[in-house]
Amino acid sequence: MKKYNIAVLPGDGIGPEIINETRKILDKTGEGLGFKLDWNEYPYGAAHYLKTGEIMPESAMNEMEKCDAMLLGAIGDPRVKPGIMEQGILLALRFRFDQYVNLRPAFSLPKVKTPVDLKGTRMDSVVVRENTEDLYMCIGGTTDTGELELPINITRKLYELKGSLKLKTDPRCSFAAQAAINSKPGVERITRYASELAKKRGENTVTVVSKSNAVSALYGFFEEIAKKVIADEYPELKFAVVNVDALCYHLVRNPTSYGVLLCPNLFGDIISDLQAALAGGLGTAAGGNIGEGLSMFEPVHGSAPDIAGTGRSNPIAAILSGAMMLDHLGEEEGARKINKAVSDFMENATNNELPFEFAGESTCEQVGKNISKYI
Ligand code: IPM
Ligand code: MN
Repeated sequence: MKKYNIAVLPGDGIGPEIINETRKILDKTGEGLGFKLDWNEYPYGAAHYLKTGEIMPESAMNEMEKCDAMLLGAIGDPRVKPGIMEQGILLALRFRFDQYVNLRPAFSLPKVKTPVDLKGTRMDSVVVRENTEDLYMCIGGTTDTGELELPINITRKLYELKGSLKLKTDPRCSFAAQAAINSKPGVERITRYASELAKKRGENTVTVVSKSNAVSALYGFFEEIAKKVIADEYPELKFAVVNVDALCYHLVRNPTSYGVLLCPNLFGDIISDLQAALAGGLGTAAGGNIGEGLSMFEPVHGSAPDIAGTGRSNPIAAILSGAMMLDHLGEEEGARKINKAVSDFMENATNNELPFEFAGESTCEQVGKNISKYI
């Protein structure tokens, strides 16, 4: 029997409850198809940090590296200053394992009300978000003296970035600075990924999300490199570009008019939430952080501490992320089964059987059980 070692990090808030349901469904899928998932669970998250002062040790990442894939629930807790857990765990994992693709599909599910009338069409688009660069380099600081010196010493799989940023205002005032990088190899590889995906989806266009009219160096560069990769390597594809502000406008007015959206890191973060809302809510938005090494699958939503433990969370986004993980492992049939089970469940569910998010009355566990019946 085929066996996969899976690192699992349930994390904070609703993370543990949604991951619980996801694991049961993945296990059942494996039983039916003749593969087994060996789960290696990690305790990291806010509760662990508050108890022990430890965020996530290097030794844990060295262990995770040996796994075939990773499943993550959610990270973030109001008891901890924003950024500490997110950067210490989530971003640390993305960077450490060079998960340069953040893949976030948005599609319509039966019975899920959308905030904008889709006029009988279905939403089926995907954000391909660059996941290691842009404003997410973690190069930043603030000063009260009018002088700021930021030493930079960053290791990425593609390069080491060393140097420093020295800034001074006259007259002196407090300020903050944050630096962004988009590199040629970084943009090239994400463009190739987006182009391959467009081909696989049977589409003829990759749309680059930009803002080169105002942030010319950073996003003009991204556009140029992406355009060249598509022209040189994918003559069958068209390169299109849209500024992120205009994209927000068009998406709300006409949500179904895009396929593959290739985004720099920050725009991808924002657009994927917008897409999730347009498709009916974060409760069904799945995602993967994908690279050549350990890839990690997680729902787009956060830890929702306000509803943790009440049963009101919706496990669907985590379950669909689990399906993306199976697909990545080469268990395409398993992925297809889970996607179909979710869609069949939604199709046939009575109003009461729906999750609270869709005005139903079923707890996270009941939703998981009901989806599992369709596997
Ligand atoms: C996401 C989240 C993270 C991000 C946060 C929690 C650091 O919003 O995965 O979209 O900005 O990437
Ligand atoms: Mn986000």
